[in-house]
Amino acid sequence: MNCLMRRSQNLLLWRNSCVKHRSTDAASANRNAATKLSYEEFIGHQQKQAQRSIVVQVSSEKSYPELYNYCSRFGSILGAHHYCVRQDEALHYVLLEYSSSGEAAAAIDSGVSNGDLCGVPVRSPFLWFRAPPAGSKRTPNLAASDTFPALSALDGGRLMESSQLLALVRGAQSIDEQVLLLHKHTRLNDLGIRLRFLAALQVQQAISGMFPSAQAQPFGSSVNGFGKMGCDLDLILRFNDDTGSQKSLANTDPSRLVFHTKENLSNGRSQTQRHMECFGDMLHLFLPGVCHVRRILQARVPIIKYHHEHLNLEVDLSMSNLTGFYMSELLYMFGELDPRVRPLTFSIRRWAQSCGLTNPSPGRWISNFSLTCLVMFFLQQLRQPILPTIGALAKAAEQADSRVTEDGINCTFARDMDRLGFRSRNQSSLSELLLQFFEFYSQFDFHNRAISLNEGRALSKPDHSAMYIVNPLEQLLNVSKNVSMEECERLRIEVRNAAWVLESEVENVALPVGEGERQEHSWGLLNLFKHPEKPLIRPNMFFKPRMVEVSDLFEQKELTPNPSTPHSPTSSSSPPITYKSVAVRQQVQGIKTATRTELKQIRGSSTPTKNSRRSSR
Ligand code: GTP
Ligand code: MG
Repeated sequence: MNCLMRRSQNLLLWRNSCVKHRSTDAASANRNAATKLSYEEFIGHQQKQAQRSIVVQVSSEKSYPELYNYCSRFGSILGAHHYCVRQDEALHYVLLEYSSSGEAAAAIDSGVSNGDLCGVPVRSPFLWFRAPPAGSKRTPNLAASDTFPALSALDGGRLMESSQLLALVRGAQSIDEQVLLLHKHTRLNDLGIRLRFLAALQVQQAISGMFPSAQAQPFGSSVNGFGKMGCDLDLILRFNDDTGSQKSLANTDPSRLVFHTKENLSNGRSQTQRHMECFGDMLHLFLPGVCHVRRILQARVPIIKYHHEHLNLEVDLSMSNLTGFYMSELLYMFGELDPRVRPLTFSIRRWAQSCGLTNPSPGRWISNFSLTCLVMFFLQQLRQPILPTIGALAKAAEQADSRVTEDGINCTFARDMDRLGFRSRNQSSLSELLLQFFEFYSQFDFHNRAISLNEGRALSKPDHSAMYIVNPLEQLLNVSKNVSMEECERLRIEVRNAAWVLESEVENVALPVGEGERQEHSWGLLNLFKHPEKPLIRPNMFFKPRMVEVSDLFEQKELTPNPSTPHSPTSSSSPPITYKSVAVRQQVQGIKTATRTELKQIRGSSTPTKNSRRSSR
């Protein structure tokens, strides 16, 4: 009975969620069905959509009919999306998309300044729908709701509750379906992408008077198809269009009239820092919604970080280093090439987050970007590769693919994958690939080998970094230079643990189970996502704390009364894993013993002696 109730609850959650995501899915399906967009086409499409859009704060979604009626006077409204930003109380917003940028501009131009505030009025696509002046008539609601487009999302920016997500994933029929569900329900949705392009447009429009060719280009996970709901927005501000999209127009009829320009006398880097400081002040002082502006100008790529309170969004704005933009293009192309690439990467990113390998703040641990590179490399080096090498893409490049950044970095590679003639014959399922990924990196010799996505094979490591991933666009750099020995070791341990867990999960899934039995417990993919709420111990404590933590987990095995049903080393709270095959069990025991010995050795060599502790103080 309980089972049946839970099942129907799950079905209900599933249905609710389907209704919620229907518009998003329809939007992306439409986009994909029409034609597969190239990266530049996708970016161009989203930028145009942003130019046709405005965001209006309303008192609740119930204001929508009145807002629609009022705003229709400026043009034809194609669609409307509602979202909330939760502070003390929920603030409601509606994104309206007009059929042309002129209509959106007319709506913005009709805006007036807020007399109650003493700030400098700024024109931007962020508006507020105030109550009509006392005594005047409210804009009448439209008679029938079918005469205007329904809100295509209600609270469309809301992340799914983790309990709801877990229930959905538990209700899947297979691990493959779990991977797909996780991807479907956690990826950045259509509204998330729209809001990010509006944030970019706001910056661009704010400076367009003085810098008419300036472009604020989103890149990173917001646009490469690997972003999850709530991911940050990486933005690069360009003053000359060197992103290639308008190259063909460049030499048609060069004008004889040249702008007078102030010459920069100081060197490039300090000049960029100075400019960024100035833009940081401007954003901070004038742009509505922009708050908590932080300047991180000493980093390799100087950035300004800020929060956008009308979009509930973290933004990283840079002005140099276009390679990140082109790297996003490569990742976008990889994601488009095979439907397994993104769901697989999502599961791996989630696994890494849940076991504390990744962390939103940068540090000595692996970044999401490096982890994504590990996944791409794994897919390249398979016997039947799923992805081509970047070297092959560079070889297939034509004149139109030529891209060189202003600091001379060559980012030329074929933008059209079809030209490469690459077809994967790999038929592995998602769960097989996931297991192979963990097994591959359990064996990978991080100590001596570097990962090259350009060649799709491991190379000798050129230096003593703990982990070496050749930067695909600047091949003398190491993408994972920040990763410490300890974190690299932890990765090796965690991939090994994950391989053990997943292997037995795959076996368990093959066993027949009673109706609804699986929905009762975490199973399959979910058993990889261990201790999600556990606070992280970070490496400034050096090796010891983490090693104790891991060995503590091993020690739990000793407490297990029945040796034929050892506890999974990764899940202290989940039910014990039964290894049906004696060979597998023995193999697992062997690896555990070897790991324990390795840990002891590492601990021995890393524990500072009394003397060294004293001298290091
Ligand atoms: P999340 O923000 O964690 O969701 O992932 P992300 O892919 O956006 O990563 P991040 O914000 O750290 O970096 C943004 C983008 O910059 C990445 O997607 C890459 O395209 C690019 N990028 C980051 N680090 C490097 C690097 O070392 N080399 C190159 N070429 N590009 C990089
Ligand atoms: Mg990012």
